[in-house]
Amino acid sequence: MLDNLNILLGVTGGIAAYKAVDLASKLTAGGAGLNTVMTESACRLIGPKSFEAVTQSAVFTSLWNIDARFNLRAPASWKEAGRESSIEHRESRSESRAGTPQGGNLGHIALVDWADIVVVAPATANIIAKIANGICDDLLSTALCACWPLIKSGATLLAPAMNNNMWTNAAVQRNVKTVKEMGFELIGPVKGRLACGTEAIGRMAEPQDILEAIEKIASKVKSGKHKAAQTGGETAG
Ligand SMILES: Cc1cc2nc3c(=O)[nH]c(=O)nc-3n(C[C@H](O)[C@H](O)[C@H](O)COP(=O)(O)O)c2cc1C
Repeated sequence: MLDNLNILLGVTGGIAAYKAVDLASKLTAGGAGLNTVMTESACRLIGPKSFEAVTQSAVFTSLWNIDARFNLRAPASWKEAGRESSIEHRESRSESRAGTPQGGNLGHIALVDWADIVVVAPATANIIAKIANGICDDLLSTALCACWPLIKSGATLLAPAMNNNMWTNAAVQRNVKTVKEMGFELIGPVKGRLACGTEAIGRMAEPQDILEAIEKIASKVKSGKHKAAQTGGETAG
């Protein structure tokens, strides 16, 4: 189901970050090409090495040190359209390391261009607020802003996870409404035992359920609906 699809997995600083390793493992086993971006807070909760081990590819944690030697293959939509991967193209050119006018050293843009689907699990209140307000102050938030064509075409998924009082906070709910209106798919949070010990809504959806939600998006991407939406909406930039 996920064969030939490239998935960018964003991991933010929620206690459920450890479950994202299981998700990354499932996505890799399902045949997806996977690159992982972790926020600084996520790295305080779980080590990038865990993701590197299960995905066998690099984990990106900063806007400023993306090395384009990661395992990039062209997104499915590009292949259908006869395009080549910008990364593969750059890698084959002598000027690649110095950067090119087409974004040769803009790794965050290249990562997003590479992706067919972008998933954030867990998605903190903070990243949802940043997405809703167009804030770009680290690699993940910048990549999420740059993936507007994927957002518009329904190829982005957030799996929020947080304390129930955070989740029901009016500001968070306002941001959730905004990101849904922008085009993000959301899964969860679900009711269950939270890190603070209470039984309430706020728990991240289980990795298996997130995987199934991604597979639904994948079938849409493969059917070409997503590509049509992307092409039709390319007006800005
Ligand atoms: C142990 C611990 C667990 C946390 N769990 C969550 C969480 O589940 N959801 C959430 O929204 N914030 C959680 N936070 C707070 C976030 O880490 C904090 O808001 C941070 O700024 C998020 O940054 P990021 O979105 O860039 O990863 C937690 C903080 C700590 C110290």
